[in-house]
Amino acid sequence: MKAISIGLLGLGTVGSGVIKIIENHQDKLMHQVGCPIKVKKVLVQELGKERAVPIDPSVLTTNVDDIINNPEIDVVIEVMGGVEKTKEYLLQAIQNKKHIVTANKDLMAVYGAELLSAASTNGCDLFYEASVAGGIPIIRSLVDGLSSDRITKLMGIVNGTTNFILTKMTQEGLAYEDVLKEAQDLGYAEANPASDVEGLDAARKMVILARLGFSMEVDLDDVKATGISMVNEEDLHYAEQLGYTMKLLGIAHRDDEKVEVSVQPTLLPKAHPLSSVNNEYNAVYVYGEAVGETMFYGPGAGSLPTATSIVSDLVAVVKNMRLGINGSYAVALQHEKNLKTSEE
Ligand code: NAP
Ligand code: HSE
Repeated sequence: MKAISIGLLGLGTVGSGVIKIIENHQDKLMHQVGCPIKVKKVLVQELGKERAVPIDPSVLTTNVDDIINNPEIDVVIEVMGGVEKTKEYLLQAIQNKKHIVTANKDLMAVYGAELLSAASTNGCDLFYEASVAGGIPIIRSLVDGLSSDRITKLMGIVNGTTNFILTKMTQEGLAYEDVLKEAQDLGYAEANPASDVEGLDAARKMVILARLGFSMEVDLDDVKATGISMVNEEDLHYAEQLGYTMKLLGIAHRDDEKVEVSVQPTLLPKAHPLSSVNNEYNAVYVYGEAVGETMFYGPGAGSLPTATSIVSDLVAVVKNMRLGINGSYAVALQHEKNLKTSEE
């Protein structure tokens, strides 16, 4: 069967992980989708930069048209980050009937409805599992696994960098700046780590989860977010002595048709299950009226965990291509319906 051709936008922490998984798991992927998957072109900023994976230099490009306007490319995987320019690229790719997989929560939190609608109109898939909680399949769980339930509350640790910082400051007494630097070196932090430490990254992820969990439009501007940049070693020390652990928690709940989303540093009793979620790990509690309480736990940042979600999304896209169906359609319709309702 004809190979599926991928255009990769970005070859940093996550993009390198995507290349590794596609190459190292080719047999498993072949078994899943019935054809080879080939990375045809990779967009970068600097052609001469040293890369974390061996890559044929002829595959690299600095011209996005080689991907988004390339008729040979079936699926665009976006792991370059950014919002306005990236949105423009993805809309152009969608107009050219390319399916999209993205890890970009900044983009999906602000322009998710518009991109999903464009994808639906053009018969394209748009998957974004990696945009929330790295390697945890939380989006798929909300959209598929819990789709029959009425979700009333979502609560969790959804930023790996801040959890890594709080863990190392609490358990090893390390200084805030040193641990932030370590999180950056490990590839957990955003290009601008202010969005991690000021709670904005977590806010964006909670907006994405709340929309999918509650099937309602949620505006990022309505989220009150406080980060951890004001938390000091003394705060953590006293919290420990009193039997509490500090975590940056995202909370979203619905009350009838009203949704409230917030992010703030929170003191949790040590016996609380979220207290023992450490380092870059994330966990999300989902409360459903029928299912009760469920908890999803796993690595929330980093190259291979995040790339696992991306390549699994890719598998879903290729399976849909084979079946001639469109996977993000239901979600797009849901968003459109809710947008219409809120406009009326
Ligand atoms: P990164 O290491 O900084 O890599 C970004 C890549 O994109 C680099 O290869 C860079 O090229 C390329 N790039 C950036 N802007 C570009 C532009 N305007 N034109 C062409 N190429 C451009 O970032 P990352 O950590 O992999 O994160 C990528 C995305 O995944 C972000 O949206 C992030 O929020 C999301 N994400 C990250 C993680 C994580 O753990 N890191 C987890 C989940 C989601 P050069 O290499 O040439 O500079
Ligand atoms: N900077 C993000 C985090 C990457 O630390 O959680 C994963 O989305």
